[in-house]
Amino acid sequence: MALWGGRFAQGPEDSALALSRSVHFDWRLAPYDLRSSMAHLVVLKKSGLIQSKEADAIGKALKELSIEVAKGSFTPIKSDEDVHSALERGLMQKLGAVGGALRAGRSRNDQVTTDLRLFSIDHILEIGSLLTVLQTAILEKASEYVNDPAPGFTHIQHAQPICFGHELAKHAHAFARDLDRINDWLARTSVSSLGAGALAGSSLAIDPEFTAENLGFESSFANSVDAVSDRDYVAEALFICAMIGVHLSRIGEEWSLWSSQEFAWAKVSDAYSTGSSIMPQKKNPDVAELARGKSGRLIGNLVSVLTMLKALPFAYNRDLQEDKEPFFDSIDTLILVLPAVTGMIATTDFDRAKMALAAPTGFSLATEIADYLAKKRVPFSQAHEAAGQCVALCEASDRQLHQLTDAEFADVHPQLDGGVRNVLTLHGALNSRTTSGGTAPTLVAQQIKDALAKNSATQQVIGDKQASFIEMMSL
Ligand code: ARG
Repeated sequence: MALWGGRFAQGPEDSALALSRSVHFDWRLAPYDLRSSMAHLVVLKKSGLIQSKEADAIGKALKELSIEVAKGSFTPIKSDEDVHSALERGLMQKLGAVGGALRAGRSRNDQVTTDLRLFSIDHILEIGSLLTVLQTAILEKASEYVNDPAPGFTHIQHAQPICFGHELAKHAHAFARDLDRINDWLARTSVSSLGAGALAGSSLAIDPEFTAENLGFESSFANSVDAVSDRDYVAEALFICAMIGVHLSRIGEEWSLWSSQEFAWAKVSDAYSTGSSIMPQKKNPDVAELARGKSGRLIGNLVSVLTMLKALPFAYNRDLQEDKEPFFDSIDTLILVLPAVTGMIATTDFDRAKMALAAPTGFSLATEIADYLAKKRVPFSQAHEAAGQCVALCEASDRQLHQLTDAEFADVHPQLDGGVRNVLTLHGALNSRTTSGGTAPTLVAQQIKDALAKNSATQQVIGDKQASFIEMMSL
């Protein structure tokens, strides 16, 4: 049903209608649209713009419609342009002309962005909640490997041995930043746009602050022109999704690498692997690969919305309708990927012996020699040079660092003695890394404990916010 037409001599061409139609993707805003309509109804009734009897009838019809939408017995039809027009048709079918009363003091311009804000708060909270579950899985897995040394890499070359629990736990810290971002984003997004009208506010005695509170927003808009054109919250949410996607892609890369024949550190559960249609022996880490691959569309969706917004004149332009599909896609993608990655991590086992064996190879303990000399106040440039010479000696004679003789050590540097062998052990190297945030196992155990505590506090906060959102949504 068209919400306009009075001044037109002819209706739109099929091609124009097909282009402007959004109901096939914005229908999922229906519950939020019904809820914001209810808030608008309350304010129209409060100001006496709708009489009590009619308001009650409209309220009842909104509730019925919301049940029918949930059941799927009320759905859009071909002539509905968008979710707003479809739902107004539903109201008119029930109430006749009275069903159109809600249009007073409201435009689809303030309506659509209010709906989208509600939708985004609901779904970003869900993503936050899934993130905390993923974080728990990472931290619990990390706690199983606190006492296991593994090679640590820079440039994918053995760098220094690290505690494998430390290596795993790092991902939880990246996601903690995403959760912080969600929290910041929520504060900025919790602003109602309802009452901005088409762009200029309203001459009717509607009360935007009252509506904002009714819908659980922290505040109402300060500038009606900005209110209908602001999609920063969409772009920011898409950035958060893209960043989460990038973090997931880095996990995906590690899992793919670590489960390769060459590494053979990770044994990914059959439940999170797939086979090959031609090679019967194959077990592929598809979940990891999709976690890596999906980051592409998450970044693309952000770029798509930013590009649409760039240089867009203020107030409402139809371009803004293009905010939804990329946004919905990013939300749906993460809701799909996060549980699978969580399951994959929780069910992966690592080969402790293999990682420990690999940890000291590639002369990854060479820094210990340099640090040993530095502790004797040898300038680090000299200490570094001496350690490098030890590596060269070992390479030339196919030996490990601890196999050099006392004479060879002394020859390399007068202050280098046999005592250095005490630090040329994996456990010595790990245990000595006690500066805060370092890889010493005792610190890693504490790091994981602290992160788990923060994780459960965040889980609680998100759970509370979700509960009050659900409560606010009930009609
Ligand atoms: N469906 C539109 C959107 O998603 C809202 C409608 C506003 N349309 C208009 N012609 N003012 O942005």
